[in-house]
Amino acid sequence: MKISVIGCGYLGAVHAACMAQLGHDVIGIDVDANRIESLARGEAPFFEPGLPETLTSSLASGRLRFSTDLAAVRGSAVHFVAVGTPQRKGENAADMTYVDGAIDGLLPHLSDGDLVVGKSTVPVGTAARLAKRVAEHSGAQLAWNPEFLREGFAVKDTIAPDRLVYGVPDGDAGEMVRQLLDEVYASAVASGTPVVVADYATAELVKVSANAFLATKISFINAMAEIAEVTGADVSKLADALGFDARIGRRFLNAGIGFGGGCLPKDIRGFIARAEELGRGESVAFLKEVDAINLRQRDRMVQIVVDALNGEPFQKKVAVLGLAFKPNSDDVRDSPALDIAVNLRGLGANVVATDPAAIANARRLHPQLGFSDDPLEAIRDADVVVLATEWADFVALDPIEVGALVRTRTIIDGRNVLDAVSWRAAGWTYIGMGRP
Ligand code: UDX
Repeated sequence: MKISVIGCGYLGAVHAACMAQLGHDVIGIDVDANRIESLARGEAPFFEPGLPETLTSSLASGRLRFSTDLAAVRGSAVHFVAVGTPQRKGENAADMTYVDGAIDGLLPHLSDGDLVVGKSTVPVGTAARLAKRVAEHSGAQLAWNPEFLREGFAVKDTIAPDRLVYGVPDGDAGEMVRQLLDEVYASAVASGTPVVVADYATAELVKVSANAFLATKISFINAMAEIAEVTGADVSKLADALGFDARIGRRFLNAGIGFGGGCLPKDIRGFIARAEELGRGESVAFLKEVDAINLRQRDRMVQIVVDALNGEPFQKKVAVLGLAFKPNSDDVRDSPALDIAVNLRGLGANVVATDPAAIANARRLHPQLGFSDDPLEAIRDADVVVLATEWADFVALDPIEVGALVRTRTIIDGRNVLDAVSWRAAGWTYIGMGRP
């Protein structure tokens, strides 16, 4: 199929490359000329395992092209809208400028029978509003097809998603739209991926409620970690035991410094704002608590570090292992790790942070921090070491080897991933979050 993808950020760049990989003829569009040039050269503008290879092979096949000119979408039968919906400055609500702009830009280039497919995470009600606009100005249809990809697994999640959700118009048009989307996702459909066909509002809500649920699960276990801390209980063991109940499940029950990134934080805030607009603020008021519990973990970590330094962080060397909001990503948007590093620096500590992928992004935002590419250099002479992002390289550090480098053997495990026994055996004071 001939497919266009409007917006080549995280979502769009991966989607365009993967659609070409699946055999479609794809044109990716973005207003950022630098980004388009780098994608056209086969260079991923961000760190994502597997994306460079997918880009290179799709470009070589001739099925993937990039352009800054929206007119290049002409001739495509399906147009994916994958632009960002960031949090508005000083508000909870999502900024819809880019989605509205993309739809307006597309309208003059649409032909009868084309399908516009929204993938961005939007406030519920957006698809119905945009469908009206598309119908008023063209003979095209609109579908809403939310994306559930996780950074670090984006290529896999796009090629082989765990489910497909199609928000379609009512009646015969809905059936036509469903068939077109089945053609786009033919390989996933053929391999038995569950497909949920729904109205627009349900499709939009699936996305925000999935993220709200995941965020709630993480804040739930972090709340338990706070209780564990004052009772001597071990939140990791608690999570293991809870996880054996198939109704609960072990995933997303890792306590620590909490969630960040470009999705969970802003999506729960956007959901709160939208529910309030709809007069149902009380229905999701608990998400404010979820957000508050999450942000509190960052303060807790800073306090644990300060306590470990006997209340005197000034000019003490703090090695922060990790800056990205999670491993296998260079994304520092709303990253708990970066936030903690910045706050410790604010208290006068000599913070030296390290990360396998995110230093450049972190430095751009916070040049006042100290950085080192080499974890052993970051750790050298440290008064305290903080594990903030659970990159495999950090989890694999040898407590005996790094023990010889530091000034004081204190390690604070912000992700509860280190083996406390072997660190203690090597003479370290090990402090987890909600672990005795
Ligand atoms: C998330 C959703 O998982 C994905 O489906 C959606 O499409 C976009 O948002 P992502 O932002 O890539 O994906 O990150 P995710 O893997 O969900 O992790 C989010 C944050 O939660 C990270 O900061 C991670 O460290 C934290 N987390 C995750 C925990 O603190 N504990 C856990 O048990 C799991």
